[in-house]
Amino acid sequence: MDNKIKNIGIVGAGQMGCGIAHVSAVAGYKVHLYDLSQDRIESALATINGNLARQVTSGKMTDEERKAALSQITGSTDINDFAPMDLVIEAATEDESVKRKIYAHVCPVLKPDAILATNTSSLSITRLASATDRPSHFMGIHFMNPVPVMKLVELVRGIATDEGTFSTAKDFVATLDKTVTVAEDFPAFIVNRILLPMINEAIYTLYEGVGTVDAIDTAMRLGANHPMGPLQLADFIGLDTCLSIMQVLYEGLADSKYRPCPLLVKYVEAGWLGRKSGRGFYDYR
Ligand code: CAA
Repeated sequence: MDNKIKNIGIVGAGQMGCGIAHVSAVAGYKVHLYDLSQDRIESALATINGNLARQVTSGKMTDEERKAALSQITGSTDINDFAPMDLVIEAATEDESVKRKIYAHVCPVLKPDAILATNTSSLSITRLASATDRPSHFMGIHFMNPVPVMKLVELVRGIATDEGTFSTAKDFVATLDKTVTVAEDFPAFIVNRILLPMINEAIYTLYEGVGTVDAIDTAMRLGANHPMGPLQLADFIGLDTCLSIMQVLYEGLADSKYRPCPLLVKYVEAGWLGRKSGRGFYDYR
């Protein structure tokens, strides 16, 4: 396989950015993380080191491999550091206006033939591409959380994505030891089109008093063999992200079956965003 990708830039050092940096560095790529504050970069590097260490503990890699992977990752708050990148993956918050601002900032720095990809979980790739200077070199590369564990990556073409871009991205994902599924550019693609309405329904089940948090999660863990209950999974994904995805489905498909549960809206308004904020359906404080 002629791998055209050597240097990878990642925008956003949050949960997904850390995971993508982790698996890319383990596969031998040079990775550069960009975020708005040095504190976020430092905390991302600590998180990645912690997750690599888990893999050493469970025998999936040696300590030398952990050190080698970590040494592949740099980070900064200077967007100009993206100039040598072959592929930049935007893993910012699920908010179209934020992503558009990032593209306006990143595109002028990139090489003309660099690929810009988004890890969006739901937004239109074609619409996001129109906010860049390179729709033919833009596409969706959607990782699942936790990235080091989950085997799937969804690839999504925009209307203008060229085949060279798509095949380069496909080859890149194969080197990460992940399985690709290809989804068409419809709201929330495949995984979240199916998963998020299930989670939203679990929240309605709580809202309507059908069961407690524990009853709903136990029912789905033991009754449907899900590794996590849907409310625990919602907290893990982030309730703000869950709400954004439901809003994209509701608006994009214009069907009342996708209406976000009012309880989900209320939790997000309260700042109860799940694990990352210390409180969601469960208390993590
Ligand atoms: N980094 C590295 N390794 C990790 C990790 C991380 N962040 N998180 C977990 N692991 C490893 C653990 O070290 C452990 O490894 P070993 O088996 O080798 O010991 C293994 O994963 C299992 O972890 P745990 O024993 O701690 O816990 P668990 O068995 O409960 O599994 C889980 C945790 C993998 C998260 C599991 O509960 C699970 O699969 N949950 C469902 C996750 C899911 O549905 N993700 C998709 C979310 S949707 C999405 O991502 C799309 C979107 O756009 C919103």
